[in-house]
Amino acid sequence: MSFTLLSSPLQGFTDFRFRNAQNKFFGGIDTFYSPYIRLNGKLEIKNSYHRDLIPENNEGLEVIPQVLTNDADEFIFVAKYVQSLGYKELNWNLGCPYPMVARPKNPPNIAGQKMSASMQIANKSGMGSGLICQTEKINAILEKVHAESDIIVSMKMRLGYDNAEEILDVLPILEKYPIKNIAIHARIGKQLYNGGVNLDGFQQCVENTKLKLYYNGDITSVAQFHKMQERFPTIDHWMIGRGLIADPFLPSMIKNNSTEYPSNKMELFSDFHDTLYAGYSESLSGATHILLKMHHLWEYFSVIFSNPHKVHKKIKKAKSIRNYEQAVREIIKEG
Ligand SMILES: Cc1cc2nc3c(=O)[nH]c(=O)nc-3n(C[C@H](O)[C@H](O)[C@H](O)COP(=O)(O)O)c2cc1C
Repeated sequence: MSFTLLSSPLQGFTDFRFRNAQNKFFGGIDTFYSPYIRLNGKLEIKNSYHRDLIPENNEGLEVIPQVLTNDADEFIFVAKYVQSLGYKELNWNLGCPYPMVARPKNPPNIAGQKMSASMQIANKSGMGSGLICQTEKINAILEKVHAESDIIVSMKMRLGYDNAEEILDVLPILEKYPIKNIAIHARIGKQLYNGGVNLDGFQQCVENTKLKLYYNGDITSVAQFHKMQERFPTIDHWMIGRGLIADPFLPSMIKNNSTEYPSNKMELFSDFHDTLYAGYSESLSGATHILLKMHHLWEYFSVIFSNPHKVHKKIKKAKSIRNYEQAVREIIKEG
């Protein structure tokens, strides 16, 4: 069966620089989801989101923007904004697990800004995976969005926040709307990123909805992909998150059904790294920020090297630009 590979959004990682470089040097991803847009009580799009989504920074890429909100007006505002850039679809994040987002004790205190009453109520009740148990609220948001906007809505969600049954009450509500698809990360919010994926939980969703489902969670190798394909033969859209940062070769290897890296593996990785590094050196101010960004990336990158622990340690030890560049040269030489 033919299938589609999607790059799952990772805030701080899968920005336009990463998407372009991954696509140029490795390929294999059909569609990239951009990390979520989150408004902070104001109907205003931050420059960093704008830069990430403008068409000139995403030429030749299939990109779907995402929003993290629990407020219909915010959703519609972001929908209009992405439509003004030419996007037809907006993905709604009901997956973010962080307690500050999913289960805030108090609404965020936004200095000097007046929040509308509806925004205050909305903010109290959580976003991302914290919203999954609030079926009426999900319904109200989707109703308003579909009444006032013609954007195509897709969803990305976990199985629940507290338990994997929460989603089963949401699916019938989603079926009332022309939701394009639901990408399900087969964990619950409370787990954060710990513990395994709940494949039985995902299976329950497959059995309980007619909506198009995409699978997401822990696809980190060709073998793991095949395992998931065997377990869920009706699924033909697969979303890869951390596995893509750790191994940007993975989607093309999955597509070629091969576990062999290309013979010029290190050359390709080196060009990919240098492209990202040049981009971040240009856009970030100061060595500290640039090194921090690259250190975060190497937490993942180190996986494709023969001694990941040693590689990661070497990068972490590099506290200046000169030392960092030297460390990268040595790591790539050693392979
Ligand atoms: C650092 C980080 C940032 C993330 N940012 C987003 C995001 O902006 N939007 C989203 O829907 N999911 C986000 N996720 C979740 C991933 O897209 C994905 O659903 C999750 O990591 C499971 O897939 P994986 O096992 O293939 O990584 C993030 C995950 C991580 C680790």
